[in-house]
Amino acid sequence: MDFLSTPYLVATICAALVVACSFKLLRRPNLHHIPIVGHSSLLASYWFTKGLEVDRHRFVQEGYDKYKSGVFRIANLTHWVVCLDRSHLEHVARAPEDHLSFMEAADNIMKLEYTLGLKISDNYHISIIQSTLTRSLSVLYADMRDEIVVACNEYLDIKHNEWKTISVVHVALQMASRTSNRMFVGLPLCRDPDWLELNINLPGAVVDEARILRYALLYAEVDRLAAKFLANLSGRTCRGVTFLGPVIKERLQHMETEGTNWYGKPNDFLQWCLDTKRETSLTSLTQRIIAVNFGGIHTTSNTLSQALLHLAEHPRHAQALREEVELVVSKYGWTKEGLSKMRKVDSFLKETQRFDGLAVLGVSRKAMSDITLPDGTFIPQGTFLAFPAYAMHRDDAVYENPKEFEPFRFAEMRNKESEGSRHQMVAVTPDLLSFGFGKHTCPGRFFAATALKTMLAHVVMLYDVKRGNDESQPDTLYAGDAIVPNPMTKIMFRKRVN
Ligand code: HEM
Repeated sequence: MDFLSTPYLVATICAALVVACSFKLLRRPNLHHIPIVGHSSLLASYWFTKGLEVDRHRFVQEGYDKYKSGVFRIANLTHWVVCLDRSHLEHVARAPEDHLSFMEAADNIMKLEYTLGLKISDNYHISIIQSTLTRSLSVLYADMRDEIVVACNEYLDIKHNEWKTISVVHVALQMASRTSNRMFVGLPLCRDPDWLELNINLPGAVVDEARILRYALLYAEVDRLAAKFLANLSGRTCRGVTFLGPVIKERLQHMETEGTNWYGKPNDFLQWCLDTKRETSLTSLTQRIIAVNFGGIHTTSNTLSQALLHLAEHPRHAQALREEVELVVSKYGWTKEGLSKMRKVDSFLKETQRFDGLAVLGVSRKAMSDITLPDGTFIPQGTFLAFPAYAMHRDDAVYENPKEFEPFRFAEMRNKESEGSRHQMVAVTPDLLSFGFGKHTCPGRFFAATALKTMLAHVVMLYDVKRGNDESQPDTLYAGDAIVPNPMTKIMFRKRVN
C-alpha cells in the first residue's frame, strides 16, 4: 500500500493538526477568572466566524457597556483577547517590552517575518521615522505639497462645471501612496503606477496570508515549513527589487565613489536608511521600504477617505475650512508653519479619527511573563491584551454628544484653553487612541498629520464635494478588528471657480 496515497496523507496531516491543536489548547493561558463577552469558547467562535468578523465591534461595545471599569475577554479564532478599561492605560504604556510586548502582539497578527520579511529585533527604520522623517517635514514640505497637487490633478482630472463621481477610497489611496513615496523613495519612482500598485495591493495579500498562517498553523515549526508555501514574500520582494533595485544600486555607487555627500544627493527615506550603513542588500532594503509603505499608506488613505466622506455628507463645513485655509495661506503661504495654524482642518481630521477610527481595539500587547495589574487582575504569560478604542472614543463620559460628528470640537477645545496643544491631531492622550499610547505610539503620526492636513486643505480650496446618488452601500465595513471605508462608496467632485 502506498503510504503517500492521498487518503493516508490527508489522514496523517489531520492527525498531526489535531495533536498540534490539542497541545496548543492545553498550553493556552488560564483566564477563567475573566468574564467572557460574545462566544463562550474559542471553538464556538469557529462556528460563528462571520459574526465574530463582522460584529466584533458590537461584542466589544457590549463588553464595554457591561464592564466599563473592569476587564472582559473576547474570543478570537486562535486566542482570547483580554480587554482592559482605561484605568490600565498608563500601566500598560509604561510596561517594558519584556513584560508587555507590542512587537510580539503585532507579529502574532501579521506574522511579520513570513509576510514582510521583517525580523522584530531589527527595526532601525522606526528611529528614522521618529527622528529624521519628522525633523525633515518643514524642509520637505514643498515637495510633499507639490506631489499632492500633481496627484490630485491627475486622479481627479475634472473639467470646469463638471460633477465627477469617483470612488473615494481609490482617490485617497492614490494620493496617500504618491505623497508617501515622494518622501520614501523620491522622484521618479513615486509616480511609477506599477510600484504604487504593488504597495497599494500588498497589504490585502499580506493580511490574507497572515490570517491563514495564524489560524491554520499552530506550531512554530509548522509555521516555518508552511510559510514558504503560504506566503508570497519572495514573489513580492522580487517584484519590489525590479523597481527599487536600480535606484539602490545607483545610490550605493555614488556612496562608494563620492562618500557621504554628492551633488544632487536625494533627501528621502531610502537615502536615510542607506546613510546608516546598516544594510546594503537589495532584498532587505526593498522589504524595509515596502514595510514602511505597508504601515503608512492604508492608515493615511483610510483616514482621508473617512474625512472626505464627512465633507461630502456635510458640504456646509467646507466653507469654514476654506476661510481658515485662505486666511492662513495669505499670511504664511503653503508652509509647515502655516499648517500648524489650521486648527479647524486639524480638528476635522482628529474628529474623523475619533468618530470612525481604523480599529475596534487599540494598544494591543502580549504578556511575556505573568503579571498582576494594579487592580489585582492576574494576567498569565502569553495573554493578549488590548483596549476597546472604538467604544472608548464614543463614550459620553469623555465626549459630549459622542455619536455626533462635530468637526470642530477639538478646535473649540483648543480655543478654550490658552495653549490647547493636547487637542491637536498629533497629541496622544488616554481619550483618543488612534495613534496608540505609550512607548509605541505611532512614530509616523507627524508625517501622516502633515500629509492629511495638506490634502484636506487642498481639496477644500480646489473642489466642491458632495454625496453621489447611490447610498445603498454602507460607508464603513467591519472586518475583525479593522474598520475600513467601503471601496464601493463614491462621492462627487466639482472644480471650484475662483
Ligand atoms: C493616519 C495614519 C496613521 C495611523 C492612524 C497610525 C496608527 C498607528 C497605531 C495605532 C500604531 C500602534 C501604536 C500602539 O499600539 O501604541 C502605530 C504604530 C506604528 N506606525 Fe503608524 N499610523 C499612521 C501612519 C503611519 C505612517 C505614515 C507611518 C510611517 C511613516 C507609520 C509607522 C508606524 C510604525 C513604524 C509603527 C510601530 C511603532 C513601534 O513599533 O514602536 N504610521 N501606528
